[in-house]
Amino acid sequence: MNILIVGCGVMAHALFSSSQGGSPNLNFFCYDIIPDKAQQLASFLNGQSVTSLEGLSPHVIFIAVKPQDFRSMASSLIPLISPQVVIYSIMAGIKTDAIQAKLGPEKLKIIRLMPNTPCAVKEGTIIYYPSELVTQEDKANLTNLFKESGKVFPLDKEDQLDFITPISGSGPAYLVELANIFSSFLQSKGIPQELSEQISVQTIYGSGKWLSKSSFSFQKLKEQVASKQGVTGEVLTSLEQADMEKLWHEAFQKGLRRTFQLSEEFGPS
Ligand SMILES: NC(=O)c1ccc[n+]([C@@H]2O[C@H](COP(=O)([O-])OP(=O)(O)OC[C@H]3O[C@@H](n4cnc5c(N)ncnc54)[C@H](OP(=O)(O)O)[C@@H]3O)[C@@H](O)[C@H]2O)c1
Repeated sequence: MNILIVGCGVMAHALFSSSQGGSPNLNFFCYDIIPDKAQQLASFLNGQSVTSLEGLSPHVIFIAVKPQDFRSMASSLIPLISPQVVIYSIMAGIKTDAIQAKLGPEKLKIIRLMPNTPCAVKEGTIIYYPSELVTQEDKANLTNLFKESGKVFPLDKEDQLDFITPISGSGPAYLVELANIFSSFLQSKGIPQELSEQISVQTIYGSGKWLSKSSFSFQKLKEQVASKQGVTGEVLTSLEQADMEKLWHEAFQKGLRRTFQLSEEFGPS
């Protein structure tokens, strides 16, 4: 299977860094307006970096450019496209009908994916929505391609992908911010920066692993840490009084609004 990766930035590297470079059945072609980035990814995948799309015959085209770059580059993909080619897109907010409109007129097989950066350490969350013509075999190929990069979750409604984007796509950034908040507090109490950062990272890493291995409810797990009138209870009560949940929900809602704006800006018209 020939896989053409268009846009070899952060997310393409993260997603493909655990996938099957060197597999005899997969031929990777990497293209980026910065040839060094394409070369880097190609050498990792034992593939080829290309400086032009001309003459390529991909079975899969993986679009990993920023949404705002898609409009200008979409026309260069059209000569490579046929109804057999499967288009994978990880562009946030760009709906399948908008991709179809830019790459049509023939009805295409399009899969929208929302991966996240932990794919780089084989712990990604990879959510996908397949358009109507995508076959069981296409879905199996996708799962096979990314099964080493994390957990793969199919969706049957495209809207759900937009709701999930501010949580799983963006989520790693919030946890980095949390690590930063933990660490800055420790540093404000005189604990050296390196130790503060190590403690913050290990607390988040260990808690994630503990959470993923447990069969208890979130509430029960919280209770295992927070005894009545103890330290944790004091902190949690203070956060609850500030209505932390409402604050997060409002922030996610703003993220969603941005997703919908992107959908409108890059709509089918
Ligand atoms: N980063 C994340 O955590 C994340 C998570 C989920 C989904 N996504 C989605 O993934 C996509 C890529 O994000 P990213 O963070 O990987 O961005 P990125 O690091 O900027 O990678 C995009 C790459 O595409 C290149 N490019 C721009 N125009 C091009 C063109 N016409 N032809 C070929 N290559 C071109 C960019 O070059 P320049 O740098 O010169 O522009 C850059 O190297 C976005 O659509 C985003 O919505 C990202």
